[in-house]
Amino acid sequence: LYLGVDLGTSAVKLLLMDGQGEIRKIVSREYPISFPHPGWSEQNPEDWYEKSIEGIRELTKDVDRSEVAGISFGGQMHGLVVLDEKDEVIRPAILWNDGRSTKETDYLNEVIGREKLSAYTANIAFTGFTAPKILWMKENEPEKFARIRKIMLPKDYLAYRLSGTFCSDYSDASGMLLMDVKNKCWSKEMMEICGISREQLPDLYESYEVVGTLKKEEAKKLGLPESVKIIAGAGDNAAAAVGTGTVGEGMCNISLGTSGTIFISSRKFQVDRYNALHSFAHADGYYHLMGCMLSAASCNKWWMQDILGTSEFTKEQEKIVKLGENQVFYLPYLMGERSPHNDPMARATFTGMTMDTTREEMTQAVLEGVVFGLRDSLEVARNLGIQIERTKICGGGAKSLLWKKMVANIMNLKVDVIESEEGPALGGAILAAVGCGEFESVEEAAAKLVKVVETVEPDEDLTEKYEECYQKFRKIYPALKPVFR
Ligand code: XUL
Repeated sequence: LYLGVDLGTSAVKLLLMDGQGEIRKIVSREYPISFPHPGWSEQNPEDWYEKSIEGIRELTKDVDRSEVAGISFGGQMHGLVVLDEKDEVIRPAILWNDGRSTKETDYLNEVIGREKLSAYTANIAFTGFTAPKILWMKENEPEKFARIRKIMLPKDYLAYRLSGTFCSDYSDASGMLLMDVKNKCWSKEMMEICGISREQLPDLYESYEVVGTLKKEEAKKLGLPESVKIIAGAGDNAAAAVGTGTVGEGMCNISLGTSGTIFISSRKFQVDRYNALHSFAHADGYYHLMGCMLSAASCNKWWMQDILGTSEFTKEQEKIVKLGENQVFYLPYLMGERSPHNDPMARATFTGMTMDTTREEMTQAVLEGVVFGLRDSLEVARNLGIQIERTKICGGGAKSLLWKKMVANIMNLKVDVIESEEGPALGGAILAAVGCGEFESVEEAAAKLVKVVETVEPDEDLTEKYEECYQKFRKIYPALKPVFR
């Protein structure tokens, strides 16, 4: 049996899979997120650990625990976790959607320069990335900064607690802006720029490599054998891509989770000229390009739960009938935006309401706004000459047929639906299976285990109507940009 842990932003999801790819059980445990200032976002690593332990115990309670062979992870990317010499967490983790490091990001992009950053790492700086956060700590919390002995990413904290191995994997480490993605090693220049040393950074592995086994006390706590292997795992997007079979050359996956991402796998390393898309290592041993929007399903949650005060998401969505004709537009930038605008100051808006505007039209605008935002990143990829005709889809938003239809018609893509939309957790379990030798490679495992059950096809008329809407949508952000300053 293989266990996949998806360390997400709102919850940890855990999935138990057997060697034939059958999903035996899924459990999830929520934890809090705090926004101590507008645009800041933090979590307590101890919560991740405790909820994961609780989740693993629950997940394995009805099976023969001695059959569990491996555990691996998909983790929220970019988060800064810092430990002191006693291995204690120095401050709450600063998350991927935290926008506090604007000054440091500008310093990296403008003073060090985009060209140099791109040469060192294959990427430019974004506020959510780890390196600008390290610089922020250095400037704003110098005493805490001086105590740092270990710097790690969220899922690596779990691997460390479980196995005692200070490790990361190439896909997740790509998002730190400290790794030379092309050559898969830490960048000496970036370490120097950030004022950190090699000893403070973890050893790097491929996502499917074994990093250790369960520590004795952890095995006891979990009721699992000490022989259980811990496999490096991946950033949640790379893990999700594995879980949807988006591996090898030219495949695409869209994730509608708290964040929204479009992920394009590639056998060869490539960088887009303006670095609007991230150029990262993939969990299959190769590379990928990715656009990431900071608020996707979280826009839906905010609108439905916090504003409308309902938890009946499906019922609300069922009232939406007229696709392609909405005159209300929504900019989905509740936490600023990463791809492709790289603007932490961007904000969400509704535009185009009249006295007759209905609740349904506004709900529709929220869902459409997220997909228009993703299309912005798809356009960057298309401008690079990458041809994409179909995509897989995963994440909580992928449960909604309406949202999948919007993806198909707004982006003009065939949307392949996988048996399970649990991308990162399933990907984690698959990586564990590969690490334990059940399969030769990630590609082989994905080909054997991941099944497409349905395809949502774009409709010609609707695609045309949505094309007009998208052309309007894309004018809104540039027009409003000065308002957000
Ligand atoms: C990717 C990113 C998000 C997080 C969400 O660059 O920041 O997708 O990984 O967990």
